[in-house]
Amino acid sequence: MPNFHTKEFKEPSYPSLYGKSEFEFVAFSQRGERLVMSHTQNCDMLLKINKNEKGYLIKSDKITRPSQVAILQQALKDYRDLSKTKTINSNIDSKKEKSLKVSPYLKGMEYFADEFKSNKDILVEVGFGSGRHLLHQAKKNPDKIVIGLEIHKPSIEQVLKQCELQGIQNILIVDYDARTFLEFLSSNSVSQIFVHFPVPWDKKPHRRVISERFIDESKRALKFGGTLELRTDSDNYFEYSFSEFIKQKKIELHVNKNRDLEISSKYEDRWKRQEKDIYDITMINQEYSEEISSVGRLKFDKKVDFKEVKNRFKEVTLRGDGFFAHIEEIYEINEDEGFLRVSYGASQRNEHSYVFIKKDDVTYLPNNVLATKDNQKAHELIKEYIWNT
Ligand SMILES: C[S@@+](CC[C@H](N)C(=O)[O-])C[C@H]1O[C@@H](n2cnc3c(N)ncnc32)[C@H](O)[C@@H]1O
Repeated sequence: MPNFHTKEFKEPSYPSLYGKSEFEFVAFSQRGERLVMSHTQNCDMLLKINKNEKGYLIKSDKITRPSQVAILQQALKDYRDLSKTKTINSNIDSKKEKSLKVSPYLKGMEYFADEFKSNKDILVEVGFGSGRHLLHQAKKNPDKIVIGLEIHKPSIEQVLKQCELQGIQNILIVDYDARTFLEFLSSNSVSQIFVHFPVPWDKKPHRRVISERFIDESKRALKFGGTLELRTDSDNYFEYSFSEFIKQKKIELHVNKNRDLEISSKYEDRWKRQEKDIYDITMINQEYSEEISSVGRLKFDKKVDFKEVKNRFKEVTLRGDGFFAHIEEIYEINEDEGFLRVSYGASQRNEHSYVFIKKDDVTYLPNNVLATKDNQKAHELIKEYIWNT
């Protein structure tokens, strides 16, 4: 990930405009962490300044890191030049700079919450990795929309580049957890969902993509006759998944072993070389589902005095039934303004955000935290903490 090292560092003044970026403020945590607010190419992110024995390391903060590395690179270069820093080590001047324009194929969740509607057939691939199967489906089905979900940023970058090089028009790439994404799709709208070689997570089963809830949500999003297709090389995962699929009513279930597909993924090639068995489970939906309301945003509807929150701050985990909110750290911008770092969500998966407390309002960063079912419950815990109720 882009970063630079420097022996000496002098804080610039804030707010400052430089190059393609605006640097709004610096904030300090009680434990001495230092974060700088940067706005680059319509992207709000925090840069992190770590002091170590050699000097300073300046990089992005994980929670607000943009999906496109080039935007982060630009922010770091602008910050280095604004602060007139001499670097001793840096990887921010590489060629990736060229792709600074935001890819039209990469869609944020706001797009799915607010805009996405289509009468075309929709295919969804979960965890597309190197993207071979995703690109193949998109080229084979130019009249369909192919949505690719992935959480590994280098894979996303690689596939975005391929979309551009191959002039593919019908792919939407999403950097979001597949376990929650389907909540954003209308009922009865999807033709096929592919889950190929998901991580088996034998030691952490709660991280698996396939679960009763994921299958329920897939079934709701699938058209009558639409399919959810799992392909795995893991005996354990196959058995576990089969026991989850069989719980469903009004479905057809097909199981295949060592079936050849039109395209073989990188993982598949590896398993075939090792002569491993490959299992497919195909669930065909046999039911129409009710429409659901679209996913909104979480909002705070009151002000709060930052000083008061700061005075009673302590790291704490609040728990509900199957969900939680961890209030991790507090950062001060000035005596009236600052923010909290929080992680929250369902017990088996979590999200991270900052909660900004300014004089007139309280907001999340990344802004627009989406009101998924899990987030809504955890948001109530965060409100209880902030307003001390
Ligand atoms: C073992 S790889 C398989 C990649 C590809 N499907 C193939 O067959 O080559 C699993 C992929 O799923 C992605 N992944 C894991 N959990 C995910 C989640 N919850 N949402 C979206 N992608 C996920 C990983 O980043 C990884 O790229």
